[in-house]
Amino acid sequence: MVNFTNNNNGTAQAEVLILGLPDHINQLGTVNYNNEDLTQRIDTYRHHHLIHSTLGKISSTLLSLENESKRLITVGLGNLKSLNYAELLKAFGHLFQFLKAEGITNADVLFETFISKEVAQKKVAEVFGLQSEQAIYVFDNYKSNKSAPYQLDLNIISENENLVSEIEKGVIVGQSINLARDFSNMPPNILTPAYFAEQIEDHFAETKVDIDIKDGETLLAEGFGLIHAVGKGSENQPRVITLTYNGAQNDTPPIALVGKGITYDSGGYSIKSKMGMQTMKFDMCGAANVVGMIEAASRLKLPINIVGVIASAENMINHNAMKPDDVFTALSGETVEMLNSDAEGRLVLGDAVFYANQFKPSIILDFATLTGAAVAALGEDKAALFSSNADKDIQDILASAKAVDEFAFELPITSTEQRLIRNSDVADLVNHTNGQGKALFAATFVTHFSGETPHIHFDIAGPATTNVKSYRGPKGPTGSMITTVVNWLRQ
Ligand code: BES
Ligand code: MN
Ligand code: ZN
Repeated sequence: MVNFTNNNNGTAQAEVLILGLPDHINQLGTVNYNNEDLTQRIDTYRHHHLIHSTLGKISSTLLSLENESKRLITVGLGNLKSLNYAELLKAFGHLFQFLKAEGITNADVLFETFISKEVAQKKVAEVFGLQSEQAIYVFDNYKSNKSAPYQLDLNIISENENLVSEIEKGVIVGQSINLARDFSNMPPNILTPAYFAEQIEDHFAETKVDIDIKDGETLLAEGFGLIHAVGKGSENQPRVITLTYNGAQNDTPPIALVGKGITYDSGGYSIKSKMGMQTMKFDMCGAANVVGMIEAASRLKLPINIVGVIASAENMINHNAMKPDDVFTALSGETVEMLNSDAEGRLVLGDAVFYANQFKPSIILDFATLTGAAVAALGEDKAALFSSNADKDIQDILASAKAVDEFAFELPITSTEQRLIRNSDVADLVNHTNGQGKALFAATFVTHFSGETPHIHFDIAGPATTNVKSYRGPKGPTGSMITTVVNWLRQ
């Protein structure tokens, strides 16, 4: 946890001083701290390589003031003229990781030194807040040796007293990402569909987000035939969790956010290989990220309505599990021939999307670790987006992703896939094709269930998790698309 307070007279309060260091001294402006002009001194330190301006490089040295000495920590900003959002993300990520590693608990921040012409002051503040949470995330709930809780107090020295409230907005987004990460990291023997639902209910208990939970029996009785089919091979029965946030007039159509919440994907009878099965607890990242988006939207008090629908099930094997050749009736009333039990995500999403559409949303967005094919196409760090009747919105979302440094690219839905999803000898639809283009097939299957409603499908099988630690935080779940979507919702 980082606490931010504003200090607008520039007097020293802490033992540590933090400032941004650009390549060119004339970009630094005048550094005034405690009624001393430090500009020349900073330049001399840089000249003697005690501190470095390379983008993202953190340096630490001694700074002697008139009657006391301080630790000076600088954040390399490179060429301030071209400093953009992505670079700030990196610089601030490294800063907070450094502060935490060094165990620093209190510091003054000369915030004006981070402001460039490229990025609005508000945005700089937001990225600062975002990284104060996102970059230093740890998950050690199941370690005996837990890291001590990290507490840092920062005095934000700036004339602009509103900066702290802008920083807090970034903090909210960072905490929302970390909430999604916490759910995603939970082991699957603990985070079953029922437990996931309970935890979501507990989390939003004292908030303006309402939660409704449908259990396995209810889902069967109400005709959620596809979700029921996926879940029936496990003793941990499925759940549909509906989250409602109303920040606008009641008659404003909501934005629907749908999440794939497979708490474990063994593949079922179309069983995965032993290597393919590892990490399949992360098959609920789409759902976790939807929870994160709703957390952020509600805490930022966005003036919009949202309905979140999470389809949670465990894809397992028992005597009752679905098997290839089975036919099930979807909530839509259509029959689906199930040819591959590992293509379970599109099944639960089909029912969840059809259900979300009952709320008459202006648009449906769904998030799913849906296909290995999307990873094969775009690599491990890029989301594949598909539009069904949402050509304008997808452009806005792609632009939003770019603006917040998340990779997202569009893939098509064509008449080829429209034909293939109907290519069953016995039923209306089929959940699998043996041919190529499997990410497109899956996207077409899912969006089929929203009819004419604008719908954007996000296949986040790649970027939902990462194998490398970075300025965004440790390896593991990433909260993929939370900043992109929240940024888009705010516009
Ligand atoms: N959850 C997987 C997709 C996945 C694979 C996510 C790797 C993250 C990493 C999904 O349910 C799945 O098994 N998809 C199959 C579909 C196939 C059977 C058509 C796949 O992509 O192999
Ligand atoms: Mn699967
Ligand atoms: Zn899956």
